[in-house]
Amino acid sequence: MKTLIVCASKYGSTLEIARWMAERLGADCLTEKAESMPDPSSAELIILGSGIYRHAVLPVLQEYVTRFADVLKDKKTVVFGVALDTTGVFINGKVDGGWDYILPLIKRLPTPPIHAGLLGGEINPDKLDTKDREGLKKFYKMLYGQERPIPYKTRMNKKEVWDFAEKILERLERPIPTKLTVEGR
Ligand SMILES: Cc1cc2nc3c(=O)[nH]c(=O)nc-3n(C[C@H](O)[C@H](O)[C@H](O)COP(=O)(O)O)c2cc1C
Repeated sequence: MKTLIVCASKYGSTLEIARWMAERLGADCLTEKAESMPDPSSAELIILGSGIYRHAVLPVLQEYVTRFADVLKDKKTVVFGVALDTTGVFINGKVDGGWDYILPLIKRLPTPPIHAGLLGGEINPDKLDTKDREGLKKFYKMLYGQERPIPYKTRMNKKEVWDFAEKILERLERPIPTKLTVEGR
């Protein structure tokens, strides 16, 4: 199946995950950066992926969906977010993180995706630009009550990505869902 993976990735982990996914999905699979706004018209399946920043997908992927809404309406799509917190936590009486990172993008799609989910990413302090480094320093200070070096953390897991790709292959056998039902959100 002709597949296009469109990635919004600041530091490369979403792109790496897209390559792992393409490897499992097989031959006719092209991976492009969302910034280059690749035309999805000739693809049968479009997979939209983004690194998660401050609880949201990167704006360029939202722009992509808006720009190509007319084409995406009749296509099979998949959404994935790449984050450190893939499950979310229950805090102060509400769910924070996890699915809430990608639901706004899912809701923005003209037709519900056939599959969606969060996959583990990584933070490499050596790669971060000044703004992100300062932002994370503040976050860790708030968390631990004192300044700390930003730790290297990885949740990148090829098996997780291949399992996700296998689920996509399974879902391709079914018709496209006609209606998005997300109770209570
Ligand atoms: C400034 C900054 C903010 C982030 N915010 C979140 C967040 O809100 N939730 C989360 O789970 N991960 C967060 N992360 C982790 C990223 O989602 C993770 O590094 C991801 O792998 C980035 O993807 P990319 O390398 O493709 O850009 C953040 C990382 C940075 C640097």
